[in-house]
Amino acid sequence: MGRAPGLSVRLKLTLSYTGFLMVAGTLLLGVVWVFVLRHLPAYADVPGGILVRSFLVRGFLEAAAAALVFLLAFGLGGGWLLAGRMLAPLGRITDATRLAADGSLAHRIRLAGPSDEFRELADAFDSMLARLEAQVAEQQRFAANASHELRTPLAVTKTLLEVARNDRDHDSGELVDRLHHVNARAIDLTEALLLLSRADQRSFTRDHVDLSLIAEEATETLLPFAEGSGLTIHISGDAAPTIGSYALLLQMATNLVHNAIVHNVPEQGDVWVTAGAAAEAAVLTVENTGQKLSPQLVSTLVEPFQRGAERIRGHQTGVGLGLAIVKSIVQAHDGTLDVTSRADGGLRVVVRLPIARPRDHA
Ligand SMILES: Nc1ncnc2c1ncn2[C@@H]1O[C@H](COP(=O)(O)OP(=O)(O)OP(=O)(O)O)[C@@H](O)[C@H]1O
Ligand SMILES: [Mg+2]
Repeated sequence: MGRAPGLSVRLKLTLSYTGFLMVAGTLLLGVVWVFVLRHLPAYADVPGGILVRSFLVRGFLEAAAAALVFLLAFGLGGGWLLAGRMLAPLGRITDATRLAADGSLAHRIRLAGPSDEFRELADAFDSMLARLEAQVAEQQRFAANASHELRTPLAVTKTLLEVARNDRDHDSGELVDRLHHVNARAIDLTEALLLLSRADQRSFTRDHVDLSLIAEEATETLLPFAEGSGLTIHISGDAAPTIGSYALLLQMATNLVHNAIVHNVPEQGDVWVTAGAAAEAAVLTVENTGQKLSPQLVSTLVEPFQRGAERIRGHQTGVGLGLAIVKSIVQAHDGTLDVTSRADGGLRVVVRLPIARPRDHA
């Protein structure tokens, strides 16, 4: 990547290893010279003859030179092998990184052996790849579902127009009505998708807001709809201060209350909307009567485009993005979302957002 070529780490390690070996060898030979050979007299009588110092010194120097040459060769060869062995895992990690950069996220390093620095790096890298792979798969599923959902109204429109063209005497008023209906649904879907991406990008301004006021506003807006279908909404609660986007949190509350109304029992249903502050959280709970739901079904409802049973109220089926939008908004506000089925039927949704304390006002 436009960087000047440098020495490889393997070569650097080899050279340092050889360097140390040479320094240690030279020092050792120096010690022999300084403490032993230097103090020998020029001639000495030893058992069996006369010892000539200059002769001995020459012999020592030759042997020392040979030893140093051997150390040099040994250091270079041994160092090269050792460094190669030490750095081998790095090669595998680099290969995996290259594969990932080329788009192959399924590959894993799976480094064997005891836990050391390389093993930790490889394991961390593997878990990062696993997360990335899951996220990419989720995005692809989402894109496929979104395209599929968007194609439906367009396909319906096409069919309606073809029928109208072939049958000129057809009642155009009815055609316009149906086209209008299909078009409105396509717009709803597109708006839901835009909202989802806006929440996911976290690109919104944050203010001090009160979740209980937001819940009240959402409920009031939907009250005529609920009363028109024979439902009772019970709203209660205290101040639930948090920090976030008023518009997005209102959308979240509206989706929850809307769900509680349309997925309720056919007659005499109830909806409970409660807001308040707990120890660390501003909490909004929306509960409703309704069909009994299995825990397995409930765990899938938050996924985009997942629709459960037929809705009781409202003339058209939903897009299936309501709860996905709620989840994205909650996540963008660093909160948690709990969806559980009620024992008597219906659903209980609890949103917890970080509470805003007075000192946060600064
Ligand atoms: N309060 C609730 N009570 C019972 N079932 C619910 C409730 N909220 C959601 N569901 C179930 O979860 C499914 C998904 O809900 P979600 O809001 O994501 O989509 P939707 O309501 O079908 O469509 P829309 O995108 O228009 O909201 C619903 O189809 C419904 O079966
Ligand atoms: Mg919904």
